[in-house]
Amino acid sequence: MTRHIILDSETDFDGWRSAARALALHDIAPRDVVWRASGNEPDLFAPAAAVLPDGPHDLTFNVPAQFIELAQTAILHRDPERFALLYRLLWRLRMNHDLLDIATDPDVVRVTDMVRAVRRDEHKMHAFVRFREIGRERDTHFVAWFEPEHHIVELAAPFFMRRFADMNWSILTPYICAHWDGHRLSFTPGTGRDEAPTEDRLEDVWRSYYARIFNPARLKVKAMQTEMPKKYWRNLPEASLIKSLVANASRASREMIAAEATAPRKPQQREQPMARKSSSHDSLSSLREEAAGCRACHLWKDATQTVFGEGPAHVQVMLVGEQPGDKEDLAGKPFVGPAGQMLDRALKEAGIDRKKVYVTNAVKHFKFVPRGKIRLHQKPNTPEIRACRQWYERELATINPELVVAMGATAAQSVFGKITPINKTRGRLIDIGDGRKALVTVHPSYLLRLPDEDARAREYERFIDDLKTAATQLHRDKAA
Ligand code: URA
Repeated sequence: MTRHIILDSETDFDGWRSAARALALHDIAPRDVVWRASGNEPDLFAPAAAVLPDGPHDLTFNVPAQFIELAQTAILHRDPERFALLYRLLWRLRMNHDLLDIATDPDVVRVTDMVRAVRRDEHKMHAFVRFREIGRERDTHFVAWFEPEHHIVELAAPFFMRRFADMNWSILTPYICAHWDGHRLSFTPGTGRDEAPTEDRLEDVWRSYYARIFNPARLKVKAMQTEMPKKYWRNLPEASLIKSLVANASRASREMIAAEATAPRKPQQREQPMARKSSSHDSLSSLREEAAGCRACHLWKDATQTVFGEGPAHVQVMLVGEQPGDKEDLAGKPFVGPAGQMLDRALKEAGIDRKKVYVTNAVKHFKFVPRGKIRLHQKPNTPEIRACRQWYERELATINPELVVAMGATAAQSVFGKITPINKTRGRLIDIGDGRKALVTVHPSYLLRLPDEDARAREYERFIDDLKTAATQLHRDKAA
């Protein structure tokens, strides 16, 4: 007998999970189940939803946590077959707990591709939503129109909530709309494109910003179209400039070459391709690639390269420093110079394996003034920290750590989104939303600068104590 399962919505993971569990406990094979989301009934005479008897409560089964993570993301894919695919995987996992490790299994390949597509769509939404202003002063509201490929609006909305916390905004899409009023995130049914405003003064701001950051010498039309596919262009104010900027690019680059000779720039370090990439790793590497071309402030001009964060794609603890120094700028890796050595030593003493944490900086380009042969480090200012904050936020959303350790004032400013005195907050676990905590401590280079040996030893011990607090997070998870 065929069972018809009707979920409350396209993104009803909880509904899918409890139905799948009940079906599996009743030994109902995947081929005997038809899944769909409410509102997608094929016709008026579609069969009614199955009512499953209560499961045998004493029976249970476990699936790997990795499957739940995959399923939560894959269920956001547009493919109507996803519910059935996920149930088939669940069914098969009961027989083979290691099924997800078989990278060539067709169901595993398909679910992995789905997860990758959803993550990519989420990333595109983060990058290509453009708000337009409607109303004025106290009634100002920002509205954007976006057409996602998959059901990712609820997934992507918290990013905009954090990023534009002090604006009232709405993101309208054909499937669901997200709204933020400064306090609460809410969702309403999808709408038509005509609901979204088309022109406003922000358009000009976007256009002139884009024209400023457009670098004709680095123009790669194909890569540009992959990163910013044409289908997004009609909602992007800057898209109207692309044709003429591309057409003028070769003349502009000849002019650039004639205008000034600059020191050769080091090529961007690319990640080695891995045998089997996880989807979150994919999105971390696509973030890294995008950040490599960042022009959000002027610091890229003198730096060798963007120094992006480094570490596993999912960790419990993320360490944030200030900005790359001279050595990091050349190596393209964070914390490899003297401050990095100090950090490595302290991490070891605190019982933290650096390979198990993600290490990044609030500002991703080296800021310095040349003094003869050396490049003197300069502290980044607030506009530079703000311009770079998008990368920290996107790393945070991708890595999804439970604890962020802010080392020094610049890191604390980025983590809390405002100037945060270290002494008042140091060493305490502070809630920063999304179930995450932050811990503020000093920057390792502060220890290197202390002239007095006793003070240095004292401060080093305090730094280790702070890192030990972070270590409890790692070890607590291991124990749980
Ligand atoms: N100081 C930092 O804050 N970050 C680095 O990567 C190196 C030195």
